[in-house]
Amino acid sequence: MKVVLSPERTGSDEIPAPAWVKNRKLIKWVAEIVALTQPDAIHWCDGSQEEYDRLCADMVASGTMKRLDPKLRPGSYLALSDPSDVARVEDRTYICSEKQDDAGPTNNWMAPAQMRETLNGLFAGCMRGRTMYVVPFSMGPLGSHISQVGIELSDSPYVAANMRIMTRMGRAVFDVLGEDGEYVPCVHSVGKPLAAGEKDVPWPCNATKYIVHYPETREIWSFGSGYGGNALLGKKCFALRIASTMGRDQGWLAEHMLILGVESPQGDKHYVAAAFPSACGKTNFAMLIPPRGFEGWKVTTIGDDIAWIKPGKDGRLYAINPEAGYFGVAPGTNVSTNANCMASLASNTIFTNVALTDDGDVWWEGMTKTPPAHLIDWQGRDWTPEVAKETGAKAAHPNARFTVAATQNPVIDPAWDDPAGVPISAFIFGGRRSTTVPLVTEARNWVEGVYMAATMGSETTAAAAGQQGVVRRDPFAMLPFCGYNMSDYFAHWLKLGQSMAASGQSLPHIFCVNWFRTDDNGKFVWPGFGENMRVLKWMLDRVAGKADGVEHLFGTTPRYDDLSWTGVEFSRDLFDRITSIDTAAWKQEIALHDELFGRLEQGMPPALSAVKDQIAKQLAV
Ligand code: OXD
Ligand code: MN
Repeated sequence: MKVVLSPERTGSDEIPAPAWVKNRKLIKWVAEIVALTQPDAIHWCDGSQEEYDRLCADMVASGTMKRLDPKLRPGSYLALSDPSDVARVEDRTYICSEKQDDAGPTNNWMAPAQMRETLNGLFAGCMRGRTMYVVPFSMGPLGSHISQVGIELSDSPYVAANMRIMTRMGRAVFDVLGEDGEYVPCVHSVGKPLAAGEKDVPWPCNATKYIVHYPETREIWSFGSGYGGNALLGKKCFALRIASTMGRDQGWLAEHMLILGVESPQGDKHYVAAAFPSACGKTNFAMLIPPRGFEGWKVTTIGDDIAWIKPGKDGRLYAINPEAGYFGVAPGTNVSTNANCMASLASNTIFTNVALTDDGDVWWEGMTKTPPAHLIDWQGRDWTPEVAKETGAKAAHPNARFTVAATQNPVIDPAWDDPAGVPISAFIFGGRRSTTVPLVTEARNWVEGVYMAATMGSETTAAAAGQQGVVRRDPFAMLPFCGYNMSDYFAHWLKLGQSMAASGQSLPHIFCVNWFRTDDNGKFVWPGFGENMRVLKWMLDRVAGKADGVEHLFGTTPRYDDLSWTGVEFSRDLFDRITSIDTAAWKQEIALHDELFGRLEQGMPPALSAVKDQIAKQLAV
C-alpha cells in the first residue's frame, strides 16, 4: 500500500498504515523515521508478485533496471550501479557497542551516542523526493523458533525488490509480529534526496557511507550505498553481525557458512556446513555436481552463504539457512563450474553489474569461452573482445552479482525450509591460499578445529572494496561479519563444544580445506568444483570412522590412496604437491598466527594459545 504524505506533515505521531499492520510500536517507529528522513510517500510492502512486478516496472521506467529479453531470460532484469558503489565497504562498517572492547580490534568502532549524532545529521531529510519502502522480512522460515523478524525502511526500490527474493518478505511477517512482536529495526537510505523537480539518476548513492550496527539495542542503520550487503540489511548486517551477538547471548551460532546435504547411493544422508570468505566458491560448493565415479551420489543445497545453528533437544547442532535466495558472484560461473547455478539463473533473476548482450541477454567473464563480439559493459559502455585485450577492461565487474530465489535451484534440499533445521555432521573451513595450506586436514579435536578456523587466512577478493589478492587472516571467514570481539567469539565456539561434550554429545568433526594451491606458473593444481566431492566423501567417511589418513603437525590429512580416484586422472605427484607441508612455510605461517594472536590478545582463550605453542614447538625441532 502506497501513501503519499502531505508536504505540510510535521509531527511524528501520525502515520497512515494499512489495517493489516497491527504493531503500534512499529507504526510509531516508522512515524519517527518519516519525521527524520521526510520521504514524499510511504509504501508498505505486502510481498506480492504484483507488487514485485510493479517495483521492477517502475525501475525500468526510471532507468535503474533494464528488462532482459523475455524469451532468453524470462522475468529477469539488469541493474548497473554507480561505478563508485560496487562492493561492501568494510572500512565504513561500524560496530557501535557501548564499550569499544566489546567490538574488539577487528571492527571499526564509534561510541553509540557520537554515531547517533553523526547519523541524525546525515539522515535528516535524506529521503526527500523519494518513497520510503517499509519492508517486513523474516530471516528463516516464518514462525520458526530459530527465525527472527526485521523491518527495513529503505528509500531504494531496488532494495525492496531484492529483499523480496533474498528473504521471506511480505504481509505474513506482520501477522507473525502481531500487536507486540519484536523485530530488528533497519534503516537504509541511498543518501541522495531530490529537490522539487530534480531528475533522479539511475543509481543514486552518496560518497559518504556508513554501515552501522548497535549490538546492544539490535539496530542497523545504513547510509550512502545501494549495493549488496551494504543495503540488503537482512544479509550481512542482520543475519551475521547482529545475529552473532544474539547467538553469543543466547547460546547459538550465526555463521558465514553454506549448508549442503550429501546422500550416498545407499541412502545415508549427512549435512555439512562450510565457511569460506566471500567469493571463494561457497555457492559452487553448495550446488556441487558429483563427478564421474560418484554415480548415485546426491548433493543438495540448504543454503549458500549463511547458517544459523542451534543445539536441538537431542543435543545435536541443527542449522537453518536464514535467507531465501542467493546473492552470488556471477563472473566465473558457467555450465561446467556450476551447472545448477546456471539453471537457477535461467529466469526470474535480477543481475547487477554484468554485461548486456546485443540480443538482450547477460554475459560475464567466464560464462562462455568465447565472448560475444559486442557487449554493453557494466558501466554502460561499448565493449569488444579486441578492445578488452588491449585495455584489460572487464565486461562485467568482478563483483557482479545475481539475485535469485532459492526455489529456482534444481538441487534445493527438500528440508531447506524446515523450521527445525538439519543436523550438522561436520564443519569445513576453507581459505584461498596459493601455498602452504594442504588440500584437507581434519582437526583431532574440537579445540584444534577452533584453532584452525580462528587462524584461517585467505587471499582477498573483489567482494570487498580494497586491495585484492593479499593474504589476510579471516577467522572463521567472519572477519568482516562478526558483530563482537573476535576473541570472545572464539571463546563462544569453545564453550559450545565444551557444553555439548559435557552432555555426552558427539561433536561435528572439523576440517580445513584449500582448493586453491597453485603451481609455479600460478595455475590451480586441484581441479576443484565437482571434484571436491572426493574430499567431501573422505570427510564423511572420517565422520563414520571408515577412512584413514596420516597425522601431522596440526591434524590428519588423507594419503593418496585414502581418496577415491575413480573417474579422474590425478597423479600421486600432483596430490603430494597440494598436500605437502613445507616446514619453512609453516614457520612463517605460525609467525603470522602469532601476530594475529597478538592483535587479539585481549580475551584470547588460553586453550587456543596452547595449540599454537604446541605447533610452534614441533616446528622448532
Ligand atoms: C556476500 C559476501 O555477498 O560475502 O555473500 O560478500
Ligand atoms: Mn558471503
